[in-house]
Amino acid sequence: MRGRKEARTAPCIHDVGELAASAAATTTAAATAAAATGATGAGAATGAGAAVAGAGAAVTEAGAKAAAGAFLSAGLYPLPGLFLRGKAQALTKLVLRKVLRPYLSLILSPVLHLILGQNRACAKHPEGQGKSKRQLPDQHEHLLCCRYRGTMNHWHTSTFWSTATALTPGPKIDKGQGDQSPEVPMPFRRKKISIIGAGQVGATCALMAASRDMGDVVLLDRAEGTAKGKALDILQAGAVQLFDGTVHGTIDYADTAGSDVVVVTAGSPRRPGLTRDDLLAINAGVVSSCCREIRNTSPEAVVIMVTNPLDAMTFIAHRELGFPRQRVLGMAGVLDSARFRTFVAEELGVSVRDVQALVLGGHGDSMVPMPRHCFVGGVPLTQLLTPERIQALVERARRGGDEIVGLLATGSAYYAPAASIVQMAEAILRNQRRILPCAALLEGEYGVEGLFVGVPCLLGGGGLERVCEFELDETERAAFERSVAKVRALVDDLSRLGL
Ligand code: APR
Repeated sequence: MRGRKEARTAPCIHDVGELAASAAATTTAAATAAAATGATGAGAATGAGAAVAGAGAAVTEAGAKAAAGAFLSAGLYPLPGLFLRGKAQALTKLVLRKVLRPYLSLILSPVLHLILGQNRACAKHPEGQGKSKRQLPDQHEHLLCCRYRGTMNHWHTSTFWSTATALTPGPKIDKGQGDQSPEVPMPFRRKKISIIGAGQVGATCALMAASRDMGDVVLLDRAEGTAKGKALDILQAGAVQLFDGTVHGTIDYADTAGSDVVVVTAGSPRRPGLTRDDLLAINAGVVSSCCREIRNTSPEAVVIMVTNPLDAMTFIAHRELGFPRQRVLGMAGVLDSARFRTFVAEELGVSVRDVQALVLGGHGDSMVPMPRHCFVGGVPLTQLLTPERIQALVERARRGGDEIVGLLATGSAYYAPAASIVQMAEAILRNQRRILPCAALLEGEYGVEGLFVGVPCLLGGGGLERVCEFELDETERAAFERSVAKVRALVDDLSRLGL
């Protein structure tokens, strides 16, 4: 019996006609447009032609679905035009579009996919040239059938289409030991996000990433039970919350191989009694060892650092990984600005969605909130609050982490940090090209060289696509330079401690 992981991986990536999907989708649009304008006769004939063309291209499930839609659009919509007039015609068309089409498409598209998809796959396969599915060796047919069954597993899940958007060209299918069926190139695969450290931040991040269907999640910790137990728990939450994808707990870095994004939360959180230098030494060791493993197992990943002290740990990670600066980032600014935005929204009694804020500099104490660049519903914050109130909110945001440590007594914040990591990871995995404040290695931007400092970053599929630079006024520049000096002192401490 095939495991859940395989069943979920195979259907998204099978077959060879990824280009056909877009062709079929185009024809669907043409046919639907013809039907929507009430075209009959020549218009419907064009639509029908397009539908057939779409069906001909239907070798992926997406293509089959699009072709089925086009076929139904062209075949069904003209009918009311022939027999009915006025409101009756409009009502019938509405029923066809809203009620019948989705269900008929659901039935017709797997059939099209079965017939056309498999034959196209046969034609592409070296053993299948010029042969129908029935003429192929059993093993090849078996592979196709397994993939088709996988497709059916996926077909009815509401998350299928969002999953499909997260697919990229990938390696060949790993069919596992014992499966001797021929290798067929795998054009798509799901994104993979690995989280190192299954503590409070890591596990919460895994839950959020899984529930947003960001890809397959691997949760790694040095404590095997913690990683496996929490991963299993999250996976079972998926059955209730209906999220797709796998969540795998492990102690073995081999399971994280080929990750698109790796998040490092491993280390010790701040605890009463632990000096700053103690924490620096402990976490520097943990981060170095994790990054050496990541470098070997996921050499193409974008790495998001979370372990504190953030600016210093990101510096160490970059050194150990040897990745370009585009693929090593620190999570700080999203969290710091989230805290500031929360306090502003609370103060003004407005939705936090309408509060935009920018935070620069180092993480925590040394962060530099920018009230001049904070807007509430498009209105500058400086027009809504007095300088004294703004300063009080800035101070609270700056000590946001400490406030939570003080309340929890036995740990540090994890919900807001996890949400912030997931926002960054999602921007990368889905190539959203978002501008988010992150710790990035500066190479002359803002007059800083060779340090990880929080600045607005354009995040996309390649990680850091650009550091966004803008003019600072005199006060902002002074605050930013003070913050940079603190980050530099932290990095100097690393050399002082021989780390
Ligand atoms: N390899 C893998 N996992 C490790 C390693 C290691 N070398 N060292 C520690 N860990 C794991 C621990 O077993 C633990 O499960 O890292 C996890 C840390 O989790 P918590 O102690 O719960 O800490 P958490 O609150 O998640 O914070 C993690 O994020 O925000 C920062 O300051 C915070 O640095 C801290 C980090």
